[in-house]
Amino acid sequence: MDSWEWNKIIGAVLGTLIFVMVIRIAADAIYDVEPPAKPGYVVEGVAEESTGGAEAAPKEEVMPDWGTVLAKADVDAGKKISQKCEQCHTFEKGGPNKIGPDLWSIVDSPRGEGRGGFDFSAAMKKKGGTWTYDELFKFIKSPGAYIPGTKMSFAGIRSEQQRIDLIAYLRTEADSPAPIPPPKPAEAAPEKPAETPAPDHKG
Ligand code: HEC
Repeated sequence: MDSWEWNKIIGAVLGTLIFVMVIRIAADAIYDVEPPAKPGYVVEGVAEESTGGAEAAPKEEVMPDWGTVLAKADVDAGKKISQKCEQCHTFEKGGPNKIGPDLWSIVDSPRGEGRGGFDFSAAMKKKGGTWTYDELFKFIKSPGAYIPGTKMSFAGIRSEQQRIDLIAYLRTEADSPAPIPPPKPAEAAPEKPAETPAPDHKG
């Protein structure tokens, strides 16, 4: 009878020890893996979110009233400024592409298309849209800031007036220059109500 009691007690103790060991091995396995893994993922996710949000909003520049400024722009001055572009661009009809594409008739033409098969950057093609006066104004100020990833490595022109004169010159380099929009009402109203130019009659 005694030996049976002892067997039971020893058995219970051994069983308990084995149970405890198994638990501890399992626990070690869990805790060894988890702590390093978690912070890694959490930090990455947070970092991505915060930078994305902060950089997505560049400062907005007020666009000129093209109907007013183009009428007063100095096209000859614009032509002089265009010498800064000549290292990479031609401006004449059928001109060759250089480092950059020929810019004949660029105003109001689609962005990153045609131009004698010029190999535009993915960034330029992805941006899409049309080279309106506003778009040229923003791009020429700082090409890389306006279209990150553009192949046009040109610092940009800060002066508003220089950009206006340059765009006025670009406008004239076309078979039929892009229309100038009417001046905004606030500035145009009192002076000359009847002077809207009559449309060209052909024939
Ligand atoms: C160092 C060479 C270089 C200079 C200088 C340069 N450009 Fe460019 N330009 C390029 C390249 C390269 C591209 C093509 C950009 C791309 O695909 O991302 C380009 C593209 C353009 C485009 C877009 C054309 C299209 O069809 O979408 C315009 C507009 C433009 N340039 C205007 C100018 C003007 C205006 C100047 C002068 C103030 C100028 N560039 C100076 C190299 C230059």
